[in-house]
Amino acid sequence: MMDDGVVIREVTAGYGRRTVLHRLSARLPRAGVTAVVGPNGSGKSTLLGVLAGTVRLSGGAVGRPTTGRPGFVVQRDAVSDSLPITARDTVAMGRWALRGPWRRLRPDDWAIVDACMTVLDVADLAPRRLGTLSGGQRQRVLVAQGLAQQPDLLLLDEPTTGVDANARQHIVAALDREKARGVTVVHATHDLDLAMRADHCLLLDGGRLLAQGPPDSVLTPQALGDDRLAAGERSLPAER
Ligand SMILES: Nc1ncnc2c1ncn2[C@@H]1O[C@H](COP(=O)(O)OP(=O)(O)O)[C@@H](O)[C@H]1O
Ligand SMILES: [Mg+2]
Repeated sequence: MMDDGVVIREVTAGYGRRTVLHRLSARLPRAGVTAVVGPNGSGKSTLLGVLAGTVRLSGGAVGRPTTGRPGFVVQRDAVSDSLPITARDTVAMGRWALRGPWRRLRPDDWAIVDACMTVLDVADLAPRRLGTLSGGQRQRVLVAQGLAQQPDLLLLDEPTTGVDANARQHIVAALDREKARGVTVVHATHDLDLAMRADHCLLLDGGRLLAQGPPDSVLTPQALGDDRLAAGERSLPAER
């Protein structure tokens, strides 16, 4: 049943006086994966920000069955590559988000950090500085940080954009694993195969919901207005 998932009711939200999302309503299945798709600027990141609580609502409401803080893996290009921080400390920030930055992490926190790095196959990168990692390695470290929070709701902004096949495979497996653990997963993506694997799909355009439902009913060439899909291209249109 979807009754106990995340419920977005008539949400209007944006930045300052700029409204991006217009009375958007949707239901996201609990312990399922929801893919948010749409061209650049359609409001995908803003919607994730609304779910994360970092973008303020000017109307409507978001209902969640649980009260814990969501985990939010931001778009990779939003993370500075000059931060003088190691991969392991980057993942550990997921634990500090829970414990508070003034608390020392306990051995069990570090055990979770290391386990999450192993899942994403980045354990051997632990002492490396974030800025020295490849795009795919850094993205896996950021996903590991999200997992380390052990959230009930995990939000990921374009987790496979610009990463190599190996990184993508580990990220896809990690999302499957979180879902199997009962986590509600929401990701924004231009990756058609990843969107097709989701349980539920939201299609945005211009900050409005064009369609929602099972991916194969939402991601039709007509709905996307793009015949590249019919031609078998595996990436969703970024520009319209
Ligand atoms: N911090 C911000 N301040 C003002 N406008 C923003 C900000 N972030 C995004 N926008 C605008 O909101 C709209 C939707 O952006 P976004 O949610 O990032 O779309 P997407 O993730 O689908 O590319 C765009 O027009 C964008 O320029
Ligand atoms: Mg975005």
